[in-house]
Amino acid sequence: MISFILNSETINTDSHPGTTLLDFIRYGQNLPGTKIGCREGDCGACTVLEGTLNGDTVKYKSIVSCLTPLGNAHGKHIVTIEGINLKNLSPIQETIVEQSATQCGFCTPGFVMSLTGHGMAEEKTNYQKAIASVSGNICRCTGYKSIEKAAENISELLKNKDIDNPINWLVENKFLPEYFLHISEKLAQIEPMSNDSGLFQIVAGGTDLMVQKPEEIAETNINLFYNRSDLKGINEEKGNIIIGSACNATDIMNSETIQKYFPEIESYFKLISSEPIRNMGTIAGNLANASPISDLSIFFLVLNANIILKESDNTRTIPLKSFFLDYKKLDLKKGEFIESLIVPIPTLNFKFNFEKVSKRTHLDIASVNSAIYLELNKDIIENCSISAGGVGPVPKYLHQISNYLIGKKITNGTIIKANEILQKEITPISDIRGSKQYKRLLLRQLLFAHFIKLFPESISLNELIS
Ligand SMILES: Cc1cc2nc3c(=O)[nH]c(=O)nc-3n(C[C@H](O)[C@H](O)[C@H](O)COP(=O)(O)OP(=O)(O)OC[C@H]3O[C@@H](n4cnc5c(N)ncnc54)[C@H](O)[C@@H]3O)c2cc1C
Ligand code: FES
Ligand code: FES
Repeated sequence: MISFILNSETINTDSHPGTTLLDFIRYGQNLPGTKIGCREGDCGACTVLEGTLNGDTVKYKSIVSCLTPLGNAHGKHIVTIEGINLKNLSPIQETIVEQSATQCGFCTPGFVMSLTGHGMAEEKTNYQKAIASVSGNICRCTGYKSIEKAAENISELLKNKDIDNPINWLVENKFLPEYFLHISEKLAQIEPMSNDSGLFQIVAGGTDLMVQKPEEIAETNINLFYNRSDLKGINEEKGNIIIGSACNATDIMNSETIQKYFPEIESYFKLISSEPIRNMGTIAGNLANASPISDLSIFFLVLNANIILKESDNTRTIPLKSFFLDYKKLDLKKGEFIESLIVPIPTLNFKFNFEKVSKRTHLDIASVNSAIYLELNKDIIENCSISAGGVGPVPKYLHQISNYLIGKKITNGTIIKANEILQKEITPISDIRGSKQYKRLLLRQLLFAHFIKLFPESISLNELIS
């Protein structure tokens, strides 16, 4: 039985856990405000909010309901557009109307839900955060200027929000109906789902599987990993950072432990998909989908990460580098799953950078991506790891260029020579994301970008391309 709260109503359903939350909302519950656009996580028309009990408060985030397996809603508060305006338009909706930020209206519920979700966060709001919250929403007819103006006015309306208790403040100021004040008590009464240990298809955030094979997931036996508390959490332990495999990209980006060692993490992770997809897609899903351009694989490959694989009571630890065997082929035995990622804490003298080129800034998979990790002794490279995606059948750890750079002084000449080695090490193919020649050029540019960004005083673009 799947139990959750949909707006103000408690739902108990024995519908298949792999059907989409979107279909359940629209066709099962007759709530048509949540729209169907692409069904691929791209347009944001189906955006709803997912509230999770945290102590005695509820934390909300935006998700796309078209890629959410119904079973992932268990124990959650799901809020649709109908749930935020029981009687009148909310101030967020009123602002959209005032600014003419809606035309045909098809995208509007999605924008309203994203902007409402950003208002519910326990942090100060501002225009940049309001705009970031709609990074997963597309409008095909209004034009974005009026939407941007509405977002600006909404952040102004929210500027005095009580960040210690945003839900109470939003209820008092009529952004949310009163029933929100009682959701935590209701959620506390829902028993967690038991962990199924069957040899079924694992489904985590669903952002990959629900695009690839939604019909199959809606019919087959599935093993839901998204809400498994034993696979959550990011902690520092004995010189390592341990990341639970069900942590999503937002968990990693917002983790204080990760931020301590990677203060630029937000700027790197903002390049990954959009806010709702980052709120859903897990680290294990990113590694196990075995895409040659998966961003998190590229990011963690250079950090010498290991993964712990589990099957019943047996575990084994392998380097992430050896997890990817060939195109979509992994060192993952039948019945095994990824339990966690172990990242050694970097030494004091390290430098790190992540770069990605894709056709669009938001919501897009990389054409080519790359990460670099360096340990330095003055201007001599003592340790080096470089990875790249989109230039071979798997996310690639680049052994040859990494080894070449060890012991070298950082000069323009060193980087030019390193690029020659790099070009021999990669085997890109032409596909929808670019020709093989283009991908070679892109990776050269990303290599140069790493060094220009990390060593602006000694590396110059003009010297590199002269
Ligand atoms: C609109 C959109 C934009 C995207 N943009 C990006 C992007 O910019 N960069 C990027 O890298 N990716 C992107 N993706 C791909 C996807 O979001 C990520 O790969 C995500 O991390 C997948 O995680 P998930 O939990 O949703 O995986 P799921 O779809 O739930 O599962 C994917 C695979 O992983 C397996 N799996 C899940 N958990 C485990 C486990 N613990 N052990 C073993 N196997 C497991 C599943 O069985 C399945 O085979 C995008 C997807 C969409 C829809
Ligand atoms: S319908 Fe387009 S993101 Fe869900
Ligand atoms: S108002 Fe028509 S798609 Fe946005």
